[in-house]
Amino acid sequence: MLSEKLRKAINEQINKEFYSSYLYLAMAAHFDANALPGFAKWMKVQASEEWGHGMKFYEYLQEVGARAELAAIPQPPVQYGSPKEIFDLVYAHEQGVTASINEIYALAQAEKDPKTELMLHWFINEQIEEEKNDRDILDKLAMTGNNAFGIMFLDQHVLGERKAD
Ligand code: FEO
Repeated sequence: MLSEKLRKAINEQINKEFYSSYLYLAMAAHFDANALPGFAKWMKVQASEEWGHGMKFYEYLQEVGARAELAAIPQPPVQYGSPKEIFDLVYAHEQGVTASINEIYALAQAEKDPKTELMLHWFINEQIEEEKNDRDILDKLAMTGNNAFGIMFLDQHVLGERKAD
């Protein structure tokens, strides 16, 4: 069994994860349109991971006999700035996701639901990793200082090297 409050919170989180997927795909489209296929590849891998996160919550609802309800996914922005500005957005977005996961965790504690707490441990670890990845990329972007050759190097030899998990 799952409390109605937790079922609602997890359904909202499914929507946030699918929105994350859509947001990163929109960023991929921006990079693809601006001759940065390596950045685009990184975003496509991330979009795929986010879809997986949404599905992980979806499957959890099935496992505990709760109904998934899929709401409309908001439209992500179309226009974006520099790679540094984009990764500032990504980092802020992931910090928001971390806060959202932490809120569900606090709710699971309040509802005395250890199975949901346990399930969320995976996501808490995942958020540590995602925020670190974003900070690492921001550090590298800070080194390039928007220099075109530096950006192209990161595109080909760093972000473009990302493999799907
Ligand atoms: Fe699903 Fe980027 O956390």
